[in-house]
Amino acid sequence: MATQRKHAKIADTKPGSSEIQPAKGKLGVMIPGMGAVATTFVAGVEAVRRGIAKPIGSLTQMGTIRLGKRTDARSPKIKEFVPLAGLDDLVFTGWDIFEDDMYTAATKAGVLERDLLDKVKPLLRSIKPQKAVFDHNYVKKIDGPNVKKGKNKMDLAEQVRADMRAFKKSSGATRLITIWCGSTESYIEPSAAHQSVKAFEKALLKNDANIAPSMIYAYASLMEGVPFANGAPNLTVDIPVMHELARQNEAPICGKDFKTGQTLIKTILAPGFKARMIGLNGWFSTNILGNRDGEVLEDPGSFKTKEESKLSVLEHILQPELYPDLYGNFTHKVRINYYPPRGDNKEGWDNIDIFGWLGYPMQIKVDFLCRDSILAAPIVLDLVLFMDLAKRSSELRGIGIQEWISFYFKSPMTAPGLYPEHDLFIQLMKLKNTLRHLRGEELITHLGLEYYD
Ligand SMILES: NC(=O)c1ccc[n+]([C@@H]2O[C@H](COP(=O)([O-])OP(=O)(O)OC[C@H]3O[C@@H](n4cnc5c(N)ncnc54)[C@H](O)[C@@H]3O)[C@@H](O)[C@H]2O)c1
Repeated sequence: MATQRKHAKIADTKPGSSEIQPAKGKLGVMIPGMGAVATTFVAGVEAVRRGIAKPIGSLTQMGTIRLGKRTDARSPKIKEFVPLAGLDDLVFTGWDIFEDDMYTAATKAGVLERDLLDKVKPLLRSIKPQKAVFDHNYVKKIDGPNVKKGKNKMDLAEQVRADMRAFKKSSGATRLITIWCGSTESYIEPSAAHQSVKAFEKALLKNDANIAPSMIYAYASLMEGVPFANGAPNLTVDIPVMHELARQNEAPICGKDFKTGQTLIKTILAPGFKARMIGLNGWFSTNILGNRDGEVLEDPGSFKTKEESKLSVLEHILQPELYPDLYGNFTHKVRINYYPPRGDNKEGWDNIDIFGWLGYPMQIKVDFLCRDSILAAPIVLDLVLFMDLAKRSSELRGIGIQEWISFYFKSPMTAPGLYPEHDLFIQLMKLKNTLRHLRGEELITHLGLEYYD
C-alpha cells in the first residue's frame, strides 16, 4: 500500500519539480567481492582516467539522450544532461575472503592483460580487501582466511557498518555506494525473518540461517543510508525488510544479477520475435566457462539461484498467456558447465527453435564467444553513477527500488505485485524517460504525428 502511494506521488509530480543535489566531492564505491568483475571494473576506471582506454559499453560515459523533437537536433551526452559523479571522483574499497590486493586478484582472474594491469598497478595495489562476512554454507565451493568473527550476525553487521564509516573518513568521500560483486549464494526463498525490520533484527541476533552474508552487507549499508546494488542473483535486497529500510533511510536499492552475455542476447532477440509474431518451440542455452564464478556455480545450490534468474526472462517477454498459439508451449533450458580451460572467456550457445507462417519451423544458432567481466564492468560503473544520482534526487531517494535501471539486470526488482519488464528496449526507454522526467524535459513517446500536421 505504502509503495503504491509513493508511486502515485511520483506520477503526479510535474516534470522539473524534482531537485538533484550536485555531485560534489568524492564518491566512495564499496564492493563486497573483489574478484573478476570488481577488479575489471576498477582497473578499467583507472585506465580510462589515465587516458589509456575508452569506457566502451558504458551508457553513462558514451550514451546520448535525444531531447525534444527530432528536428531540434538536441542530443547531449547523458553525463552532461544529468549531474553524475565524474570518474576522477571515484574512490574504492572492498571486502573479500581472500587477502589478495586488487592487483593480485586481477592477475589471478586473468581477464585483463598484464601490460594494462601494470599501467594501473599503483591504484590496484593500494586496494586491499577488508575482512569479509562469509558463511561457507552459502557458497560451498570456496573458502578463505580473510573472514570476520563475531558473536552473532548483528555483531558482524555492526562491524561492516564500522568499516563503512571508517572508509568514508579515511577516503574523504562525501557519499558512498555499495555494489555486491561477490559470489552467487545458495538458493533461498523469502521467509519469516525477511518480512520486517523488527523480525530481521531479531533474526540477526539469533544467528538465523535464513540470513545470508550478502544480506548482512545490505542491512549494514541501508542502515548507514547508503544505496545498495546487487550484481548477483541472490535474494539479498529483494525482501520486504530491505524495501522497508531503503525507504525509511532514503537508500535506493536495485538488483538482481547483471544482465551480460547470454541473457543480454536473449532479451535482444526475444522482443524481436514477439514484435513480428514469430512463434517459439524451444530455446536451449548452454554455457561453458572456467572462472571462479563458474566453479561456484557448479554447486547445485548456487546454480539454482542463477537458473531461476536466467529462466524467468522469456516468460515475461513472450507473455504466453496473451499469445498461446505462439508461446503457449515452448521448452526453455539453461545449462552452465564449469570448464577451466575457458577461463573468463565464456562460450554461450543458444539453439532456438522458432516457427513462422503456417507453423513452418526454422532454427537460429547463436554462439557467443563473450568475455563475462568485460561485459559486466561497464554495468558496474553505470549502476554506481546512477545509484548515486538516485540518492541525490529528491524524487528517487525515498522510493526504495529503482526500477528505472532494470536495463542492467537479469531479474529486475519491482514494486510488489508488478511483473518485471525484461525487454531491453523498453528498459532503455524507461531509463531515458526517467532522466528526461527528472530534468523537466518532455517524455518521448515516438508518436510523431506532429511532423505531419
Ligand atoms: N561477469 C558477469 O558477466 C556476471 C553477470 C551476472 C552476474 N555476475 C555475478 O557477479 C558476481 C561476481 O562475479 P565474478 O566473475 O567477479 O566472480 P569471482 O568469483 O571472480 O568473484 C567473486 C568474489 O566474491 C568473493 N566472495 C564470496 N563471498 C563473499 C562474501 N560473503 N564477502 C566478500 N567476498 C565474497 C569471492 O572470494 C570472490 O573473490 C557473481 O555472483 C556472478 O554470478 C557476473
